[in-house]
Amino acid sequence: MSVVKENAALAALDFVEDGMVLGLGSGSTAEIFIDALGERIAGGLKVSGVPTSKRTAECAIEAGVPLVEPDKVDRINLTVDGADEVDPAFNLIKGGGACLLREKIIAQASDRMIVIVDSLKMVEMLGRFPLPIEVEPFGMALTAEQVFDALKSTGCEEAQTVLRQMKDGSGPLVTDGGNYILDSRCRKIPNPADTALALSQIPGVMEHGLFIDLADVVIVGEADHARVIEL
Ligand code: A5P
Repeated sequence: MSVVKENAALAALDFVEDGMVLGLGSGSTAEIFIDALGERIAGGLKVSGVPTSKRTAECAIEAGVPLVEPDKVDRINLTVDGADEVDPAFNLIKGGGACLLREKIIAQASDRMIVIVDSLKMVEMLGRFPLPIEVEPFGMALTAEQVFDALKSTGCEEAQTVLRQMKDGSGPLVTDGGNYILDSRCRKIPNPADTALALSQIPGVMEHGLFIDLADVVIVGEADHARVIEL
């Protein structure tokens, strides 16, 4: 387990209070948080979690975190999730684990979002990490063309898009929601809010990995501590 990710994940526990409904993010850093949360629950903490992926649900069950259906909660007090890149305004790229649609549904419905990352993910400008875009399989080539145009017209330096494949070579990766992922190598995304808006207007785009104005706190794990940054 990565110590820097662990330091970030453990620091997020300080924001958890008894009685909270938590959005449980996806990815390796979120899973460290979920394991540690399970230990707190075993010690008497009373919280429940809304998972953002099937994998996270399995991880939470294993850790002993009680789960609740998203449609059965009045509110989600706090979401804790990882990210692939974070810029100085707390804009994020997410979706490296292909869970961005459910992650965004839960993040947007939460009172507060905490992002837990290691320092390598802090960037001056988003775009080095290929931007994941979740698309409807029907008409995917047409959607890919529109994605290319949206990226170029909003100033992205490149817009090379590839369909994400399963690691075992068995075909395109299918998300929990039954969609495909286009990974767009942009190199630089100088206007993330404009790019987000342009992508959202494409009918075949189910959701994109630009999280704008959603994160409230970023916790950056270092070798021997964690830095808590609030906007
Ligand atoms: C999942 O779809 C992603 O958004 C993850 O939150 C992101 O890829 C960070 O993952 P790690 O914590 O594994 O680096």
